[in-house]
Amino acid sequence: MPHQGQDRYTRIAVILHWLIAFAVLAMLISGLLMTDFISDKVLQFQLYQWHKASGLVVMVLVLLRLVWRFGHKPPPFPSSMPGYEKKAAHGTHWAFYILLISIPLTGWIMVSASPFGLPTLIYGLFEWPHIPGLVGMEWVEELAKDGHEILTLVIMILIGLHIAGAIKHTLIDKENILRRMWF
Ligand code: HEM
Repeated sequence: MPHQGQDRYTRIAVILHWLIAFAVLAMLISGLLMTDFISDKVLQFQLYQWHKASGLVVMVLVLLRLVWRFGHKPPPFPSSMPGYEKKAAHGTHWAFYILLISIPLTGWIMVSASPFGLPTLIYGLFEWPHIPGLVGMEWVEELAKDGHEILTLVIMILIGLHIAGAIKHTLIDKENILRRMWF
């Protein structure tokens, strides 16, 4: 439970934040590489498998983060922060949760609806099931594919805003806000 007067995130929240942050970066890079920049078919297939497995791991990590967040309130924003900035930060954080569930979910729907029915192996260890009843539904596959692409563009913009906010607070407002989310 939250501590009275706490001014930083819990250790578990910090670990999940940085794990998810680096994983999402790797997901964005791998997604762009495999669709637009790699022509070698074997490498492309391997990257698709890695992308699908890691994306599903991200979804599980984000669900864990959400469960943890409901039991452990984050520290309040610094009192010097103007109201509109608090609202913007709060909105951005919840948008991240929504996007980080809906992006992997659209990916999962897309591969489940594909007529090829290719399996999704989690690092070669076990097979992740497809969502039942979707295989071969081309319109679902197309819709999920468009959704996946659009949502990843939205998250790229939000990541930019999130980092810009952190830099502004550190360099311009001289508030060491990163300390709250560090080890
Ligand atoms: C946080 C999680 C994820 C992120 C950030 C992410 C990001 C991306 C990006 C940036 C692309 C390239 C989009 C484009 O320009 O066309 C992409 C494509 C793709 N992703 Fe993901 N992805 C995630 C999770 C998943 C999951 C869980 C799956 C499947 C289980 C998946 C399956 C795919 C597939 C099949 C494509 C290729 C789509 C096409 O052929 O156009 N992704 N992803």
